[in-house]
Amino acid sequence: MKVTIVFSSGTGHNLEIARWVEDEAKKMGAEVRVRKVDELSIPAELNPGQAIYQEAARNIEVASPEDIAWADTLFFSTPARFGTLSAAMKNFIESQVGLWAQGQLANKVVSAFATAQNSHGGQEQAVLSIYTSMMHWGAIIVPPGYTNDVLYGAGGNPYGVSGSADRNGFSQDIEDAVRHQARRTIEVSKKLNS
Ligand SMILES: Cc1cc2nc3c(=O)[nH]c(=O)nc-3n(C[C@H](O)[C@H](O)[C@H](O)COP(=O)(O)O)c2cc1C
Repeated sequence: MKVTIVFSSGTGHNLEIARWVEDEAKKMGAEVRVRKVDELSIPAELNPGQAIYQEAARNIEVASPEDIAWADTLFFSTPARFGTLSAAMKNFIESQVGLWAQGQLANKVVSAFATAQNSHGGQEQAVLSIYTSMMHWGAIIVPPGYTNDVLYGAGGNPYGVSGSADRNGFSQDIEDAVRHQARRTIEVSKKLNS
């Protein structure tokens, strides 16, 4: 299994999700790449925690088309920004048009996560906005649905586990649910790619 995890983040919560997925994928024996996208510039005073995040992510490589072409399984994690995926993540997704033209994006197994500050701040729509592009890729979307009790405690978003997160951290514990979604996606991918 080759897994690429692409995250967008201004203040670190989606990096945290990416790390949980990375850990779970490695436990399942996958080769894993964790990659960030190039973020838009937001004034620091409007995005508390940005400087701490940027330092934490300093050594993480920026995602490239080769990271997408390499993987059979893809995870995306994005903050909700005014109701959709971040512009930075959208920019990255659009940048894969060369792979799309070569037919290299079809049949990638994908799953997505999102965070927002509020409990109803756009997480579901952020996940769905990623999945809309994935349908155009011909990717195979693996949502968590309600396949495990652990999902209920994480808010029960069946599209992709999501959390409410601000400068005080996550308002509910979503780690086990993120790990479940990661495992389920990789298990499906193993069946499809064996
Ligand atoms: C430009 C911008 C727009 C945002 N829009 C919303 C929003 O509409 N609703 C919401 O609840 N949070 C919104 N947020 C907050 C982020 O979604 C939230 O803090 C998220 O958990 C950040 O994830 P990160 O730490 O990985 O950057 C916005 C943040 C920014 C910078």
